[in-house]
Amino acid sequence: MSTLDLRRATRRRPALEIDVRDVPAADLEAARDNWRERMASEHASARVFAALVAPMMRAGLPEDDVRRVSEMVTQELDHARLCARVLVALGGEAVTTMPRLDDVPEHAGVSPLAAVLRNVISIGCCSETVAVALVATERELAGPEAVRRVLDQILADEIKHSRLGWRLVKRHAPLLSLRDRADVEAYLPDVFEHQLRFHAPFLQMPCASDAGTAIGAPHGRSNWTVFVECMTQTIVPGLEACGLGAAEAWAEVQRRRAAA
Ligand SMILES: [Fe+2]
Ligand SMILES: [Fe+2]
Repeated sequence: MSTLDLRRATRRRPALEIDVRDVPAADLEAARDNWRERMASEHASARVFAALVAPMMRAGLPEDDVRRVSEMVTQELDHARLCARVLVALGGEAVTTMPRLDDVPEHAGVSPLAAVLRNVISIGCCSETVAVALVATERELAGPEAVRRVLDQILADEIKHSRLGWRLVKRHAPLLSLRDRADVEAYLPDVFEHQLRFHAPFLQMPCASDAGTAIGAPHGRSNWTVFVECMTQTIVPGLEACGLGAAEAWAEVQRRRAAA
């Protein structure tokens, strides 16, 4: 386990002002926990985009796209610093333990294009698209100007990250060989399973008051609903529109879960 310490980086920027006088103590604590966890997960996201660069080069994707992805590394690191500034404004300390950093899969045995599309679907089309839906909802509920500005900045980047994923899949999926298409589709249940596992903690999270959600305390049940709607109404149909059998993969994951 490593430590992420953004205290120095935070001190270099002017402090944000967030009035928390009307926020119940439990919600203030939940908001601090959420911004601290988000600080770590944004920081961790940087490595995911870094890990996409070499496979994109191997698959011969355009330099423009490789460059955009490499810029996303810095954008995610910047998001972590933004979260740190909110955390400090809420009375927290910008230091935390990093979660386990799983490697981004290399997909030995499939072509370079199928390998990169597997990760682009998982990262861009799924994780980043869900992030857009969640941050947009949070932005709607945000109260203080400083929180709204931070969420606007993060949201603008997450939209770019999601769009790049969809652009790559729309461009390449319809032209895949039968073999590559089968290899990409075979991975979809794992992608969906990962999303369900990753977002399952929403179901255990408490639901903050309006004053709490206004400063970023989570509302677990609403977040879960946003996630499921995003998967079933945006992501699965979007992948189907690119010619990939996502509906069957989603159904298979539901069957597996029901049987477990
Ligand atoms: Fe981010
Ligand atoms: Fe992102």
